[in-house]
Amino acid sequence: MLTVLVGNIKGGCGKTTIATHLAVAFALSGMATSLADCDRQRSSLNWLRRRGDRVPLIRGLDWSRGIDETAGTADRLVIDAPAAMRHKAVEELIAIADIVVIPVLPGAFDEDASAYFLKKLGEVKAVRKHKRVVAVVGNRLRANTRASIHLDRFFEGLGFPVITRLRDSQTYPMLAAEGGTVLDSRDRRAREHAADWQPLLRLIGIDS
Ligand SMILES: Nc1ncnc2c1ncn2[C@@H]1O[C@H](COP(=O)(O)OP(=O)(O)O)[C@@H](O)[C@H]1O
Ligand SMILES: [Mg+2]
Repeated sequence: MLTVLVGNIKGGCGKTTIATHLAVAFALSGMATSLADCDRQRSSLNWLRRRGDRVPLIRGLDWSRGIDETAGTADRLVIDAPAAMRHKAVEELIAIADIVVIPVLPGAFDEDASAYFLKKLGEVKAVRKHKRVVAVVGNRLRANTRASIHLDRFFEGLGFPVITRLRDSQTYPMLAAEGGTVLDSRDRRAREHAADWQPLLRLIGIDS
């Protein structure tokens, strides 16, 4: 089983958006996929409920009270990390993850919080010894704005370059409200947005 953890210390940076998209990407590629929700707000599980029985099917796991490794027979597990990840929770979750995806938003406050999180992450032994793939994903970006350029330089400087840039678009909350993603929507604009995801999808082993 390949496990992808989506986490950051900051709320609202796009953890649930990215976790749900990655689960759809894996499931679309024919993998048996589970989505574990660690957040008390259960946003991923609520999204899954809104999805109903739409294909591709994704199995939801409630990890809001802690890690439950009876995830079973899935080929792929995506973990939506808890809102405020304390150091202990970070270590426990990283222990079972192969790839750690970190959504980051532009702006000084978010960049500072993410820098702190990356520093803590770097102290975890498995990360320090390069046994985990760490992928920083820029979210809610407007191309060629100063904020977007700053974000790129900032994370480059920390040694964690931004590998994927997702644009700021109301299509994301719109689709989330109906249990959808840009990766499995027929909407023309959503299909355009889907191209933004390619570098991240390649990194997690999906070629399309
Ligand atoms: N690229 C984006 N463009 C516009 N809105 C976005 C984007 N990514 C996330 N959002 C919206 O921002 C809010 C927070 O995102 P969410 O994925 O729930 O973050 P988290 O799980 O980290 O709290 C949600 O309403 C979501 O739909
Ligand atoms: Mg969330």
